[in-house]
Amino acid sequence: MKIDFKNLRLKQKIILIAVASASIALLPACLMFILYERETFPKIMLKNLSNLAQLVGDNSNAALSFNDPKTAQDILNTLKTNPHILSACLYDAQGKVFARFPDNQREIQALGPAERVEKNEITPLSAKLYHVILSGRETAGVLFLESDMKEMDSRVSSYTTMTILVWVFSFLVSFLVASRLQKYVSEPLRQVVDRMKDIARGEGDLTKRLQVHGTDEIGEVSESFNTFVGKLQNVDEMKLGLISVVSHQLKTPVAEINGYIENMLEGVAGELTPRQKKYLESMKGIGQDNYRLISDLLSASKIERGVIAVDLKPVSIKQVVEISVRDYEASIRRKGLSLRLEGMDSDFMIMADKDKTVETLRNVLNNALKCTDKGTISIRVENEPEKGVIEVEDTGIGMSDETMEKLFTKSRMLGKEAGRAGAGLGLYIARSFMKLQKGDIVVRSQIGKGSCFRLELPKLIEGEGAQA
Ligand SMILES: Nc1ncnc2c1ncn2[C@@H]1O[C@H](COP(=O)(O)OP(=O)(O)OP(=O)(O)O)[C@@H](O)[C@H]1O
Ligand SMILES: [Mg+2]
Repeated sequence: MKIDFKNLRLKQKIILIAVASASIALLPACLMFILYERETFPKIMLKNLSNLAQLVGDNSNAALSFNDPKTAQDILNTLKTNPHILSACLYDAQGKVFARFPDNQREIQALGPAERVEKNEITPLSAKLYHVILSGRETAGVLFLESDMKEMDSRVSSYTTMTILVWVFSFLVSFLVASRLQKYVSEPLRQVVDRMKDIARGEGDLTKRLQVHGTDEIGEVSESFNTFVGKLQNVDEMKLGLISVVSHQLKTPVAEINGYIENMLEGVAGELTPRQKKYLESMKGIGQDNYRLISDLLSASKIERGVIAVDLKPVSIKQVVEISVRDYEASIRRKGLSLRLEGMDSDFMIMADKDKTVETLRNVLNNALKCTDKGTISIRVENEPEKGVIEVEDTGIGMSDETMEKLFTKSRMLGKEAGRAGAGLGLYIARSFMKLQKGDIVVRSQIGKGSCFRLELPKLIEGEGAQA
């Protein structure tokens, strides 16, 4: 399994580093442990074999002295109680075989004079030992013992199993400890990253600061990030202040220019030629767009600064629809679209800010008109138990899920999307207005089929109107 370390989450990296360091550091210790055992155990084995040879040798001394091979054979036969002894042989002082174990062994050569000395030999399969039996200062005989290495093998394998268990256990412990402690490093950074993403998406609240944990590098990152957000907040406030002042200053003169254009079109300044009328009609359209843009900028800057107020009063839902539709009726028909009004035969009251609800509905209608080239724009009023609903449905271009996700956010503010005519503020303001009125606006849409915006507002509760 290949681990793409570079692309692992920080949390995973920390755990991996901790586990890898613990495991790698423990590995030489474990190996040393096994090697030490392999090195020292043969010596212990030889020592035990030598003790046994000493004992058996001492016991056989009398049998050798009295030339009693039967007793010697009996003594050697007691070795069968030791399962590791493979063979044994007792030689007399001349090196001839005196007794052997097991006694059905193949023929054994006599020992030459040079071989009648204390010696031992270890091979992977067996340990061999020659022990000289002394009677006073004379050599009474030589005892040969051969033991298997099974004891060492089983010890090494149980040591290896134990070492592996210790290794796995420390692996698990380091994994658990690292999993618990990693959050002290990764969590503060995670918070910085999440906030950065929010701000980059245009959704972060610039007035909020991150909690700074400690004075280490991670603390410094949070601290610096807070300073950075503070600077952004200042810039944002300056931007909002500027937009607010400029739009406020522009709103009245633009409204006045629009008023003059309206008057001229009505003939207040004298008879107009068809050409003059055509130019003035165009100026009227541009003037109205400008007025709407300036109003939107002013509203958005007020929403952002939290200084917008709503005036909730009982309002006729039918009236809201009629006022809003009035401005768009002609344009809808001029574009060759049909307009359908449903649920308008009965009226009921909602608790709303009339101007803001009309502005919201106008924006939704304006969008439907912009985005629909053929078909119908339907406006539906629904009387639900607790809320009044106005739906605007069109048969226009529709929207992708991606567009819908960002639809009501200010991230689209001020024409970030190239080639779009509006400021991109309409639906952000619409949602803010609806929320301020304890209502909501939701959308469903399908590319190529059309969209439906649903405005929901609380209905007037019996007795509430009198207080409002
Ligand atoms: N009925 C609709 N059908 C298809 N797309 C729509 C519809 N309503 C809105 N949109 C999409 O959502 C975008 C955002 O609408 P919004 O009203 O917020 O801004 P705008 O209309 O582009 O600009 P502004 O309203 O500030 O003049 C539109 O640009 C359009 O892409
Ligand atoms: Mg719009």
